[in-house]
Amino acid sequence: MSTHDDGSGAHLRVRRYSGSARINHWIVAISFVLLLLSGLSLFHPSLYWLSGLFGGGATVRWLHPWIGVVLVVAFIGLFLRFFAQNLPERTDWVWLARIRHVLKGDDEYLPEVGKYNAGQKFVFWSQSILVVILFITGLGLWEPGLAWVEKTFAFKATIDQLRIAALIHASAAVIAITIWIVHVYAAIWVRGTFSAMTRGFVTGGWGWRHHRKWLRKEVDEHKTDRPRVTPAE
Ligand code: HEM
Repeated sequence: MSTHDDGSGAHLRVRRYSGSARINHWIVAISFVLLLLSGLSLFHPSLYWLSGLFGGGATVRWLHPWIGVVLVVAFIGLFLRFFAQNLPERTDWVWLARIRHVLKGDDEYLPEVGKYNAGQKFVFWSQSILVVILFITGLGLWEPGLAWVEKTFAFKATIDQLRIAALIHASAAVIAITIWIVHVYAAIWVRGTFSAMTRGFVTGGWGWRHHRKWLRKEVDEHKTDRPRVTPAE
C-alpha cells in the first residue's frame, strides 16, 4: 500500500521502524494468522477442513502449540521494543474522550499524540495480556506442556481444570482475533500507515496529522530522512 500526501511536510520521510522491528512484527503477525487458522481447525468440526492447509488433523495438533511458542518468543521481543512508548499518558484520556472526532477524522480537535495513540496502546496492552493467558492455558492443553507444568509444580491437573483451561483459551482467542481485526482495519483505514511496517518510513504529513508530538521529537533529534524532491509515493 502506498503512502499519501496528507498535507504539510509530506515530502519528508520519517523513519518509524527499524528493519529488525519490522521483521519482529511480521513474525508475530504471520504466526498469529497461522495460529488462528490452525486453532480454528481444532475448535469446531465444521472448521476441520482448515487442517488441510497444514497437512491434516494430526499435523495441525502437533504444529499449533509450536507456532504458539514462536509467537510467544517473538511477542516478547515486540513487547520489549515497544512497551515504553505504549505507557499511558494524561492526553490519552483526552484522545479517548474525543473518540467521535477520531472516527470522523477531525484531527484538529485532538490533542497532539506521541508515537502511539490511546487506541494503539489499548491494542498493545490487551494483546500482551491475552498472549500470556493463551500461553498459560495452552500449556495445559498440550501434552508435553502439561507434563512439564505437572512435573515442575508437582501437581496433577484434574479434567475439570483442563476443561476450564480450554474454555479460557478459546475465549481469549476470540477476543485476541477481534482486537487483531480492529488493528488491521486501523492500519488500512488510516492512510499511509501500512508503509510504516513495510518500508519502515512514513511521510512527514502522516506524522503531522496523526502523531504530531512524535514527529516534533523525531525532527528535533534529526531522525528524518533527507527531504525528497519528488512527491512521496
Ligand atoms: C496481518 C496482520 C497485521 C498487520 C497488517 C499489521 C499492521 C501493522 C502496522 C501497519 C503497524 C504500524 C502502526 C503504526 O506505526 O502506527 C503495526 C504496529 C504494531 N502491530 Fe501490527 N499488524 C498485524 C498483526 C499484528 C499482530 C498479530 C500483533 C500482535 C498480536 C501486532 C502488534 C503490533 C504492535 C505491538 C505494533 C506497534 C504499535 C504499538 O505498539 O502500539 N500486529 N501493525
